[in-house]
Amino acid sequence: MDHPQPGPPLSPETLAAQALGHVDLSSGGLTPSINPSTTYEQQPDGSYRQDRVYTRADNPTYEHAEGLLAALEGAGCACALFASGMAAATAVFQSLLPGDHVLASRVLYWGVRKWLAEFALAWGLDVEFVDSADLEAVASAIRPGRTRLVWVETPANPMWEVTDLAAVCELAHAAGARVAVDNTVATPVHTRPMEFGADLVVHSATKYLNGHSDVLAGAVLTARRDPFWERIRSWRRNAGAVPGPFEAWLLQRGMRTLFLRVRRASDSALAIASHFQGHPALQAVLYPGLQSHPGHQVAARQMRDGFGGMLSIRLVGGAEQAMAVLPAVRVFKRATSLGGVESLIEHRRSTEGPSSPVPDDLLRLSIGIEAPEDLVADLEAALAAARRTPLTTPTTTPGTGAPTG
Ligand SMILES: Cc1ncc(COP(=O)(O)O)c(C=O)c1O
Repeated sequence: MDHPQPGPPLSPETLAAQALGHVDLSSGGLTPSINPSTTYEQQPDGSYRQDRVYTRADNPTYEHAEGLLAALEGAGCACALFASGMAAATAVFQSLLPGDHVLASRVLYWGVRKWLAEFALAWGLDVEFVDSADLEAVASAIRPGRTRLVWVETPANPMWEVTDLAAVCELAHAAGARVAVDNTVATPVHTRPMEFGADLVVHSATKYLNGHSDVLAGAVLTARRDPFWERIRSWRRNAGAVPGPFEAWLLQRGMRTLFLRVRRASDSALAIASHFQGHPALQAVLYPGLQSHPGHQVAARQMRDGFGGMLSIRLVGGAEQAMAVLPAVRVFKRATSLGGVESLIEHRRSTEGPSSPVPDDLLRLSIGIEAPEDLVADLEAALAAARRTPLTTPTTTPGTGAPTG
């Protein structure tokens, strides 16, 4: 592939729109080619062109998507794609050593919390959950010299609690610990955690980065190419936690429209949250863009151009009312996951199952790129229909522990 001419630095929007501006040298194509080969020819002298041997280690199509995401997350960082967001997150934890102390946000994507409880503890990681929005709690939970990793998600699923990244990084670094930030929800459009001191950034690329609900992928980025980064890369290679080249190609295509999609979703989410704040059917609208949200001040400091496309609503009337909203929606799709072009609605506690700490009156909304007035009208109509529904025991089956997004 040809590289763009040198010149003044380009803005992230331009880099994303042009997928770094590469042109395919063999055809002149503006669309990068896919390299599906799993294996590479050995030369008569035993060497390999470009040192490529086998796709479980590396592949040009991964590297294009990795280069683009690294350019969006911050100057000088490196990126490794993974088969899913969970594969990316667990690669970070599995690169630690048994006995290492890990602090993780108390409010956290359920899949990561479940994995930590089921596997990391049994494997010997000393995992402790802390309210990472409470800096005093973080300061007293960090064990200098023993805490190796502080894992933060912000805004965090599904209450959208906000963690002060600069403050947590300062506390962690003073004690010799790394900070990894799950930036799936904010995306580099709103927050670049390395600008606040984060050592590692993790993504479920399944969500906004790809944006079309048709690719499962993840990514880890590092601020430094140090031995811990080499361990993460070695884990990926040896455990085989890589995506397919087709997924990597689709991901770079999805990222070309990242800024448009995420800004649209954020603008709509703010409009929807503002519209429904104080609605008589709701006891709360949880969205970091609202001044009433406890994390708003910090979010305003560390998020730019909006507050993301995720919000939750809590119903007056509890679980029964929340459940009654679901069958009444027409535009919102009833589904798990987030960050796609279509808007989703989900009763999060049912999805997560009986051990879920999520209030049972909460519905999680992922706002897509549809006309916001259609989404507002749909939710208004569904809330009104739910109020007319006679209250019964909730009918949604409790979560089975099946993977959710
Ligand atoms: C914040 C966050 N992190 C990680 C993941 C896991 O990603 P994946 O489903 O791609 O494994 C998810 C999935 O919903 C998520 O929402």
